[in-house]
Order: sequence, then structure tokens, then C-alpha cells
Amino acid sequence: MNCKIGLIYGDGIGPEIVREAKKVLDVLAAKYGHTFAYTKLLLGGASIDACGVPLTEETIEQAKACDAVLMGSIGGDARTSPWYRLEPSRRPEAGLLGIRKALNLFANLRPAYLYDELRGACPLREDISAAGFDLLIMRELTGGLYFGERRTEEVNGVLTAVDTLSYNENEIRRIAKRAFDIAMKRNKKVCSVDKANVLDSSRLWRKVVEEVAKDYPEVALSHMYVDNCAMQLVMNPAQFDVILTENMFGDILSDEASMVTGSIGMLSSASLNDTRFGLYEPSHGSAPDIAGQDKANPIATILSAAMMLRYSFDLDREADAVEAAVRSVLKEGYRTGDIMSEGCTYTGTEKMGSLIADRV
Ligand code: IPM
Ligand code: MG
Repeated sequence: MNCKIGLIYGDGIGPEIVREAKKVLDVLAAKYGHTFAYTKLLLGGASIDACGVPLTEETIEQAKACDAVLMGSIGGDARTSPWYRLEPSRRPEAGLLGIRKALNLFANLRPAYLYDELRGACPLREDISAAGFDLLIMRELTGGLYFGERRTEEVNGVLTAVDTLSYNENEIRRIAKRAFDIAMKRNKKVCSVDKANVLDSSRLWRKVVEEVAKDYPEVALSHMYVDNCAMQLVMNPAQFDVILTENMFGDILSDEASMVTGSIGMLSSASLNDTRFGLYEPSHGSAPDIAGQDKANPIATILSAAMMLRYSFDLDREADAVEAAVRSVLKEGYRTGDIMSEGCTYTGTEKMGSLIADRV
């Protein structure tokens, strides 16, 4: 298979972790007889440095010409980086939101599961972690508070800021369908998370999700308020299969879900539109404090590459091989600093990538 892959190395630890994912992909291509052609795309801080803005038309066009894009992470230290002296719409994060919107990447899949080998790194009580968990957050990614009208102005001499949480029924329907479709391939449970006891947008969300559920009689649908969900995630994560939720709630809950797996350095994600195209990125940030020191955990990015193989290229066997390679490296006791525990072998970013590449 010939695939055109866009690579966004990004900022902070981004270049290091993308390099390792590419290493794994290259070994895989040779082994399974595929040709992966790469195009380097600029986004975020790297794009600000090169072009003055976090996202250019050129990057959007280049991304559209690719079959999929693999990304590291973007952004810098908000206290020290000159990128954060720019107005908000010109900062690194605006580039990420811009590319999600421009490519209509409304469905963000964030799987979180507890590896047996990392049970010790799970911060939950032992009786809870013993049950294990395997859930997927289906986060709406191009609507809600992130994209609603916003402004800061003086009202009667008082500085006032406004953000708007808006969803229409079509936006809700298409993400709900995605959640039910994926639940059909998993454990056939969808928990829709909202704040319907307060928000109109949530009440519409709930109504539309219930309509969509009628087309999936095999899937058990439940509803949960977001505050309760935040609690349930640490009390009994094993109860969840697919969590369906809006943009902002999904942002918050996915960080929480990732941490209960032991480390945010393990969590992959896929952002998809109506086509086979996808943008694949780790759920974590750019960790500028450890950038360039060979300390970052490349596994989330490598697992994101596996998601790319699965969802954009239909290469399930190859995706399985990558996931199995990650598992066996963990089983053999290799750990980056974030998941290190007693008796394990410490490995840097590059070594971790090589170990995984050797095992695909
Ligand atoms: C994420 C990140 C982004 C988001 C930031 C960097 C804008 O936190 O992908 O979860 O909030 O969506
Ligand atoms: Mg986030």
C-alpha cells in the first residue's frame, strides 16, 4: 500500500516523539511491503517561528493532500515563551484548533486502558485498579465552547468576558452516530455525558443522542452528568465502554482518564472527519520542561500511529503488530521516566522507540 503521511513534529518534545513513531512506521513498511511517503507540515510554535502565524493555508492544503497526518504536540511554556506574548488568536493552540476546524475533524477518539504491566503506576486504590478498565472517550471536537463566539469588553466600566457554548442538532447527531458505531465494535455500551440539569446545549444533546440510539437497539445507552462522570472515573472506571461527550467536557475528562492509566504519556488519539482522513496525535502536551533531553515517553505517539494504520489505512494487522510490540516492551520491563517503577529498566525516548521498532 502507498500512503502519504503528513508529519507535524510540533514543539517541545514533539520532534523527539514523532521521530520515534516514524522509526516504527518505517520498520513496519519494510516488513509488510508498504510505501509510506512523508511530508513535513508546520503547525503551532514552529509555524509561528517560520511563518509568523500558527497555521498557514499552505499547511491546510498540504494536509488535505495527505492520506493522514501524524502529529507530536504543540505549544510552549506560557510563562516564558514569546509565543504567549502574541494575542490569543495567534498563539500555538489557535493553530491546532484551526486545523481541526479546517479539516472538519469533528470526532476525537481517545482510548484509555490499563495495561496489566502498568497497574502499579495507576494512582487508584488497588481494589479499583485490580478490575482494570478499557474505555474510549468520543469527544466532539469542532463545536461547543471552543468555537462559539467569544469577546472581552467593558460593560458599564467592568471588564467582562463571554464564551458561548452552542451546538446544533446535526453536530450532535453525527458525533453520536460515531459513538454508537464504535460501541458496536466494542462492548456495546454508550454513556453520554452532559450537564442537562443546567445547560440547554446539554438538554438538546441528550434528546438527539436518544433519537440516534433508536437505530442501535443492541447498544445500551446511559446518561451521566459531567461532574458525576469525573467522580465515577476514579471510583469505578471499569463501568465505562464508550463515553460520548461535547468538546470541553471531553478535554477535561480525557486528561483525567489518561492519568488513571498510569501516565498521560500512554494515551493516543485520532481526530476524524467524514472521510478516511485523520489527524493522529498523543493526548498529552508538549512538555517543554523535558524537551530535547531524551526523557519523553514516545508510546502515545507510537500508539497514535497505530490508530492511523487502523482508521485511515485499514491496516489492522499492522496496527495490531505495533500495539503488540508496545505490550511486549512493557512486559520486558522497559520504562520511560513517567512510568518507571522499581525493578524496571529505565529507557530514554530514542531507546524506547528502537525497542518497539525491533518488535513489530
Ligand atoms: C487537547 C489539548 C488542546 C485542547 C489544547 C492544546 C488546545 O488540551 O488536545 O486535549 O484543549 O483541545
Ligand atoms: Mg486537553
